Amino acid sequence: MLCGRTNVNKFLIEEQRRNTALVGDFSMLVSDVVRSCKAIAQGVSRGSLAGVLGDEGSENVQGEAQKKLDVLANEAFLRHCEWGGHLAAMASEEMEDIYPIGGEHPRGKYLLVFDPLDGSSNIDVNLSVGSIFSVLRCPEDCSAAQPTAADFLQPGSRQVAAGYALYGPSTMLVLTVGSGVYGFTLDRDIGEFLLTHPHLTISPETREFAINASNERFWEPPVQRYVSECLAGKTGVRGKDFNMRWVASMVAEVHRILMRGGVFMYPRDSKDKSKPGRLRLMYEANPMAMIVEQAGGLASTGSERILDVRPKGLHQRVPVILGSRDEVERLERYHHEHVNGDDQPFRSPLFSTRTLFRDD
Ligand code: F6P
Repeated sequence: MLCGRTNVNKFLIEEQRRNTALVGDFSMLVSDVVRSCKAIAQGVSRGSLAGVLGDEGSENVQGEAQKKLDVLANEAFLRHCEWGGHLAAMASEEMEDIYPIGGEHPRGKYLLVFDPLDGSSNIDVNLSVGSIFSVLRCPEDCSAAQPTAADFLQPGSRQVAAGYALYGPSTMLVLTVGSGVYGFTLDRDIGEFLLTHPHLTISPETREFAINASNERFWEPPVQRYVSECLAGKTGVRGKDFNMRWVASMVAEVHRILMRGGVFMYPRDSKDKSKPGRLRLMYEANPMAMIVEQAGGLASTGSERILDVRPKGLHQRVPVILGSRDEVERLERYHHEHVNGDDQPFRSPLFSTRTLFRDD
């Protein structure tokens, strides 16, 4: 097949022709992001051979140890996306402040936010990691004024595009520009992402959930109730057995949910009371929420649609519950019942002594 599949550039240009709201060099901006992901895929796949594994010896703004690949992936995004003239500024998990475009490069109308290498605890053990990105419009005429961090603080519902690259057994790019979700697979022979998964959808029902169960004692009652009911399986109120997965890489979890359904939770917990959740709103939760909603699923904090959360800071954290519609709705209902005190029967001493590993 010499010219059978649509590559990502053709897809983007056709999308931009269809959607007149995508102004300027939108498709070229996303193409630059795609090039960043290809460069990162190359580094990730060479691993030890390229000497890129291990710690960098520095910390990011969240106080987390940076891996060499975190830093290299951040650089890849900056270098591939700064010169095209499509962006006014960038922001990333790895940088405390925004990265304004100006000086030697022309400034454009879009803002790019990214997590250059998500799930980086998996890097040194050769398991799946990914990159996540979100495109916003700069609210003012950014070509005139110097953009600020405040320009980025828009609810996720204003995202123009969102996507991720998964560096797994094959490298995949999953993308939405607001009209469905499309998956592309990197053909390394020709160096192109080819459309392999058009119109991805998430089935509303599932029997699979993903959560870091070691945090069970820190979860809030609605999540304890939900997981406990899943674990009870056929013999409990759900009347069916559930399966559990945890890859510790959000990109990999969301990808699995797009492929076969499921629900992913990194809920609010009391482990560190200063943090309302683990995942970051601007470059983890928002882009994934847009993808999940575009695929027919839901994404919630438990009490609010993630895409409606008004950001207060670039690196703000948020509780995340996303995936198959029926399960996310159930979890929202449990949160609602908890706030209203309607979940008393589930908070009885008998119920609260149940843990993942003991059911007495
Ligand atoms: O920082 C983000 C992240 O690596 C996600 O990709 C992943 O879902 C989560 O953290 C894993 O957290 P934990 O190490 O607590 O399981």
